[in-house]
Amino acid sequence: MSDSIRIGIIGTGNIARSYARAYRDIPEAEIVGLCDIVPGKAAAYGEREGFPNAKTYVRYQDMLEELELDAVSISTPNASHGFITVDCLEAGKHVLCEKPMSVTLDEAVNMAKAAKKADKILSIGFQPRYDPNMMAIKDIVQSGVLGKIYYVETGGGRRRGIPGGSFINKEEAGFGAIADIGCYSLDMAMNALGYPKPLTVSAHSRDDFGKSPKYSPAWAPEDFQVEDFGTAFIRLEGDIVLYFKISWAMHLDSMGATFFLGQDAGLKCTPAGTGNWGGAWDGGVGSVTLYHDLQNYQTESPISLRPRPQNFNIFTEKVRDFVFAVKDGGKAPIPGEQIVRNQAIIDGILRSAQSGKEVDIEIPKI
Ligand SMILES: NC(=O)c1ccc[n+]([C@@H]2O[C@H](COP(=O)([O-])OP(=O)(O)OC[C@H]3O[C@@H](n4cnc5c(N)ncnc54)[C@H](O)[C@@H]3O)[C@@H](O)[C@H]2O)c1
Repeated sequence: MSDSIRIGIIGTGNIARSYARAYRDIPEAEIVGLCDIVPGKAAAYGEREGFPNAKTYVRYQDMLEELELDAVSISTPNASHGFITVDCLEAGKHVLCEKPMSVTLDEAVNMAKAAKKADKILSIGFQPRYDPNMMAIKDIVQSGVLGKIYYVETGGGRRRGIPGGSFINKEEAGFGAIADIGCYSLDMAMNALGYPKPLTVSAHSRDDFGKSPKYSPAWAPEDFQVEDFGTAFIRLEGDIVLYFKISWAMHLDSMGATFFLGQDAGLKCTPAGTGNWGGAWDGGVGSVTLYHDLQNYQTESPISLRPRPQNFNIFTEKVRDFVFAVKDGGKAPIPGEQIVRNQAIIDGILRSAQSGKEVDIEIPKI
């Protein structure tokens, strides 16, 4: 492989701007192809973002056929992550796919299977993992200082923050807040725990704000086709319960802290700022405190926050890690096979919310 890896971007919408900034900052990556289903959009993006020589396409299949790519970045709406990823892996390309991994659990499993079969990297775009404080939280949870962990609570919420556009259209997005920002909360907690297997889920979802002309006058009620609130009680292997709540809109400032309760200590992680952009999508952490007993005294130990280094950007770090994994023949930094468990929880939440009953989570073998 040459010194720089050849990359094609599929989907040149909003988040593709963050990809552009990241790839511009990584000399080991060369953007040679751009694809967007809307004619002219990829070319406009290439001009605007500094890739004027990249070849542009409307069909990603044509890009895969014509260009000798090493890897692709997929930043299309959720509903197309599954089939585009599988096609790219089958064409022998490494894939960095945006979150949430897919819409259905079957799609996620097929993506992971395709990566395994092709022996290519499939990494999913959870950039909060690159925040130094998120890393510290994982280190503390994994250190064993909490003793046996039996309960975890996580989630997030925006007072008003329904994104609109493709995000509220069921055909394109598949689902609403539960997967859009909920997948980050789930990843934060599950990654710290080492991604234990999810077993069952009992969930509830709502769409009060999205369907209300009072709170969402920008669209007709029938155009809001997903949920804006979800909550779930999830049983994980190892006798752990994970309680989850997420909201795109609510009459509250924050859904509160993420916390881990163990037999020896508890760890509380508050969101940054008001927590309006909960789900920790930006990796922001307000404070981290360890609650434990010291010589029989109930003690609270604040954990010093790690500042982000100057010019450090978690999105760029996510992309850089992927680029170097491809370049050096490494492993997927955020493996699709692991994120199938995130998707399995989301799938279970939606099934349980629809049926009004607890459901089992079964993940097919990959
Ligand atoms: N990691 C993050 O911080 C972050 C932030 C925002 C969005 N996202 C994720 O990124 C994805 C895209 O979000 P967005 O806000 O950029 O949406 P967007 O609607 O602004 O952009 C999506 C683009 O994909 C194009 N597209 C759709 N189907 C296509 C296809 N089959 N082939 C090629 N192009 C296609 C659309 O024309 C559009 O330009 C979503 O899955 C979202 O969840 C991630």
